[in-house]
Parts: sequence; structure tokens; C-alpha cells
Amino acid sequence: MEPLTREAIAAHLGTRWLGRALHCFDELDSTNTTAREMAAAGAPDGTVVIADAQRRGRGRLGRAWVSPARKNLYVSIVLRSDVPAERLAQVSLLAGVATCEAVRELCSDAAIKWPNDILVGGRKTAGILCEMDASGAAPLVVLGIGVNLNSAIDDFPDELRDKATSLQLARHGLAVDRARFTAQLLTRLEAHVDVWRRRGFAPIATAWRALAPLIGRRIHVQEPGGDVVGTALALDDDGALRIRLDDGAEHRVIAGDVTVVGGYS
Ligand code: BTN
Repeated sequence: MEPLTREAIAAHLGTRWLGRALHCFDELDSTNTTAREMAAAGAPDGTVVIADAQRRGRGRLGRAWVSPARKNLYVSIVLRSDVPAERLAQVSLLAGVATCEAVRELCSDAAIKWPNDILVGGRKTAGILCEMDASGAAPLVVLGIGVNLNSAIDDFPDELRDKATSLQLARHGLAVDRARFTAQLLTRLEAHVDVWRRRGFAPIATAWRALAPLIGRRIHVQEPGGDVVGTALALDDDGALRIRLDDGAEHRVIAGDVTVVGGYS
């Protein structure tokens, strides 16, 4: 496939501030790492870093993100918001909403799985890694988004083949125009960040709930400290998932992997 270029993305981009500084690379270790370095060197709010391939793509919970060349989208965005640590999850939920909406344009059954995995046909097609850097004078957030647009099944390692997919696979082989998709995603992201900065988390939480058919469902959560089973009750404002355990107690899940008992749809 063609490399993803600044010009091709700019031709479709409808943003005011996000992506004014937009850098495309052939290959990086991780777009999140480069975005953090650029931010440390003074890159402005809304700087976008894209790579056609990543040597060390990072996922949540210390996992790797499979990043084959010229097929998918690997993007990181610098947000110069003074976000208190307890509101950081709001930014990644916001990114999940923007990503799910962009994916729905192409696959109408896309849904969010807590916290912000995007599933199509029950398989993961996008993930978000939101990192905060408080080491400089002004704290900042780097929002990393990976979307499997045109991966073939062989691009995934064996252990992911029944859990992951790409939009091309979900669309029976119809390839996705990466530049158009990228512009769509960035445009939606800017709109949601604007709303969040003006009006706070409530409108984002409402949009998230509409895209995540989870509340009221029976779920199994693998948490770093062990597994729990219960019924999903609500999304809290700090991004935690509140659940009712079988003994009646309430429990807040801060980090972990959710499986919906009986399948997610
Ligand atoms: C997850 O585990 O679901 C999060 C995956 C995040 C992957 C993206 S790809 C662009 C950015 N750079 C990285 O190294 N990771 C994120």
C-alpha cells in the first residue's frame, strides 16, 4: 500500500487546531514515545505523530501492539491539558468514543468494550493507550490510538487470531483508505476534546454509554489482582466501571480485561 502522508491526510482534514502540526514517519519504535519526546521539546497542543510501522508498539497492561507496515493506523496526539491524574481516564474514554464513531462509518456494528477497546463482530479492531507526562513544567497527555484497518489474518500472531480483526477483514476484503480514515478520526477527536474542555465529562460519558452495551450485562473481569464476576452497573466519572458482585457488594474496576458472559453484541 501507499505510504500515509501529511498531504493525503490534510486533503480530508476538517480540524481547526488538532493536526496543524502533523508528522508522518515510515517507521518508529512507538508513536507514543516520539510524541512524548516532541512534546518535551515544546511541540504544540494537538501535535499529531503517525508511523507507517512500529518496531515496539505498546498496548495497555504492558502488552505489545502488533504494528505491520503500511496497513493500519498508528497515531499519537499531544494534548497540552492540565489534566489531574484522576481525570486522565476521561481522555482515553473520549478517544474511544471518537474512534468507535469513525469505525462505525465503515462497520455499523462497532462497539466499545470497557475501557476503550473497539470491537467489530466481537473482535478487537482498535485500542487506545493514554499516557501522562508530568515531568515537565506543564503536564501533558499523549493519546495513542492503534486501528487495524487493513491487516490480513496472517499479520496477527496465532494467539490473537480468534480475538482480533481488521476493518478490511470485517468488510469481506474491502480495503480502507487510510488517509480518509485518519482525517475522519482526527476530526471527531477534535470535536470531542472541544466539548470536554468546554463542558466537562458528562456529554462524553453519555456518548460512551450509547456505544458500549455493557450496563446491566453479566461480566467477568481479569484484574491485575485476580478475577471477579458480577453485573456492570455504571461508568463512574473517573472512568472506573462499577459492578455488583454476586455477594451483593459494589466493586470498582480501575484496570483490567472485561469479558461479557454470553458474548458482546
Ligand atoms: C491497547 O492495548 O488496546 C492499546 C493499544 C494502543 C496502540 C497504539 S498504536 C499508536 C500508539 N503507539 C503505541 O506504541 N501504542 C499506541
